[in-house]
Formats: sequence, structure tokens, C-alpha cells
Amino acid sequence: MDTQRQLQLNRITKLTTKSHCLESRSHSHTASSELQILTRFIINMARALLFDMAARWWSEKTVAVVTGSNKGLGQAIARELARNGVTVVSTARDTARGLAAVDSAVKEEPQLKEFLHFHQLDVTADQSVAELASYLQDTFGGVDILINNAAMQKFQSEVYEDAVDTIETNYFGTTRVTEKLLPLLRASPFGARIVMVSSQVGQMEVNIQSQTPLL
Ligand SMILES: NC(=O)c1ccc[n+]([C@@H]2O[C@H](COP(=O)([O-])OP(=O)(O)OC[C@H]3O[C@@H](n4cnc5c(N)ncnc54)[C@H](OP(=O)(O)O)[C@@H]3O)[C@@H](O)[C@H]2O)c1
Repeated sequence: MDTQRQLQLNRITKLTTKSHCLESRSHSHTASSELQILTRFIINMARALLFDMAARWWSEKTVAVVTGSNKGLGQAIARELARNGVTVVSTARDTARGLAAVDSAVKEEPQLKEFLHFHQLDVTADQSVAELASYLQDTFGGVDILINNAAMQKFQSEVYEDAVDTIETNYFGTTRVTEKLLPLLRASPFGARIVMVSSQVGQMEVNIQSQTPLL
């Protein structure tokens, strides 16, 4: 541990110990409201310091995969992660559109070039998911963050095929990608992360109750 980190830790330990003493005193009937305010202030400061130390847990060695990131929220998430210095594998089912999204991001913000990579991914296709997994293993030796963002949004359609497509993509697609990439998620001091981008529309219990009077 470097000296600066050790000093910060010592400072936090002292602050926390002191604030705990103050807090126990502040619970007594004789404690003044000023003491309680000071106690809260010290506790909050210690918490803020701890948060600050833990806040930047990633580096350029942290690898994130974002599904369906040629447009919309996925594209924004991929860019934002890259802006923050995470190595991002942007993916799209259509290679041309996926590459165009990465190119336009790099054109607008050239500093993103070293952080943004691209690989084709159709979440409904076993072969495509397997190829992404091999690429991640061979190129980066694993992955730290998986953002399951890809989805169909045909929830207002009453056409049977649209329902099938939606479930194939949003449920089985997400499951397929997660199961395949799970063994590649690396152990790290902060833990690997899987983010499921979802929607209220997916809350079947709520929707069935509110939209189908017969049930
Ligand atoms: N926008 C909202 O207000 C909102 C609200 C709640 C939740 N969400 C959730 O946020 C996420 C993104 O929404 P969005 O509004 O950004 O949607 P979007 O603009 O429609 O983007 C969806 C992305 O998923 C991709 N995709 C669809 N099927 C795919 C497949 N089989 N394989 C790989 N990628 C596939 C799309 O690729 P193509 O371009 O090839 O179609 C597109 O890149 C979704 O999970 C959605 O449920 C959004």
C-alpha cells in the first residue's frame, strides 16, 4: 500500500473512531444539539472520504462489454465508460452499423479511440455469442463488466411473432450472453459486475394486474 493511501486510511480510522465516541455520547440525555450536528458532520466526512477512495476502482485494464451499443442507451453507456477510462467492447448485431457508431464516437472525441473496440454480437445466435466469448478471452483474457442492454421494444404490438421476437431477444438472448460470458468474468478486489438494463414494462406481475381486468 502506498504512503498516501496509508495516511488516508489512518486519518479515516481516527475520524471514524472519534465520531463513534461522539455518537455514543450524543445519545446521552446531556448531549447538546451542537454535539449531535458535529457528530453527524464528522461521520459524513469519514464516509465521503471512504467513498472517494473507493470511487475510482477501475482502470484501462477494466474491460466492459455493452450489448446492443450501436445506438440509444447502449451507445451512450459505451461512450461514457470509455470517457471514464474503461476499455469498452461495443457490440452490435449489424457490423456496419456497429462500426459506424464507434467511428462517429471517435470522430467526435478522438481520445476515445484507445478505449473503444468493436465486435459483432447478435444475442439470439449461439455462434455469434461464442465468437464474442473467444474474442474476449483471446484479446483481453476475460471481462470485468457485462452490460446487458440489447433489447427489442415491440411491447405495444399484439402480433404473435413480435412477442416471440421480444422474448427470444430480451429473455433468451440476455440469458444466452450471460451464461456464456459468466466464466470469463474476472475475479477482482471490487468484484465483477453484470448490469441488466431493464424496463418497468418487463414487470409482468404489475402489468398483468393493471392491464388485464379479467385476472
Ligand atoms: N429508451 C427508454 O425509454 C427505455 C426505458 C426503459 C428501459 N429501456 C431499456 O434500455 C435498453 C436500451 O433501450 P434503447 O431505448 O436504447 O433501445 P434501442 O435504441 O432500440 O436500442 C436497442 C439496441 O438493442 C439492439 N438489439 C436488438 N436486438 C438485438 C439482437 N438480437 N442482438 C444484439 N443487439 C440487438 C439494437 O440493435 P439494432 O439497431 O440492430 O436493432 C439496438 O442497438 C433496453 O434494454 C430497453 O428495454 C429503455
